[in-house]
Amino acid sequence: MDNIQPVQALTKYKLVFLGEQGVGKTSLITRFMYDLFDQHYQATIGIDFLSKTLQIDDNTVRLQLWDTAGQERFRSLIPSYIRDSNVGIIVYNVSEEKSFAKIDTWIKDVKDQRGEDVIIFLVGNKTDLEDKRKVETSTAEKKAAEHGVHFIETSAKSGYNVNTLFQRIARAITVVN
Ligand code: GTP
Ligand code: MG
Repeated sequence: MDNIQPVQALTKYKLVFLGEQGVGKTSLITRFMYDLFDQHYQATIGIDFLSKTLQIDDNTVRLQLWDTAGQERFRSLIPSYIRDSNVGIIVYNVSEEKSFAKIDTWIKDVKDQRGEDVIIFLVGNKTDLEDKRKVETSTAEKKAAEHGVHFIETSAKSGYNVNTLFQRIARAITVVN
């Protein structure tokens, strides 16, 4: 009975991961949750749910992660998860132009559901594929600024900026709330 901890109410926040098929949504979550990376592609079917507590400054927050499927056939499931979320994380692949071309639509989908003040992070993933890069950092920065959203580049493969992404998300939420 020595280990009884004081009961603490945790603030919960819902994060919905959005973006085209294969951009690395699941891989970013897997890197953050387990510090692992799987080269083998396994498409998300429907929606997956995970949660993790995070210490941010003096606050402990519980992040609920909704990992959506990029495949078109699951699109109809997504709006209700967006409606229910605190943060939209829109991922594209820096080595795939067409995943970046869809960003405007994703941002519009989130703003249509959640209003202009919603917290959105634009995430350019797969920066380890630098020699295959198609989307310049400055282009994406400009896009993010136009839409008034946060921006970061990551690599789920190397782990680059993955923890920083979640720290920034947690900080953005705790500042607003
Ligand atoms: P859907 O569930 O179909 O929407 O895809 P997703 O966005 O969840 O992509 P997923 O995480 O499944 O990754 C797709 C493929 O890209 C897999 O083969 C991953 O190993 C690979 N991948 C993900 N992130 C990175 C990265 O940062 N760098 C590299 N080189 N490959 C990555
Ligand atoms: Mg997935």
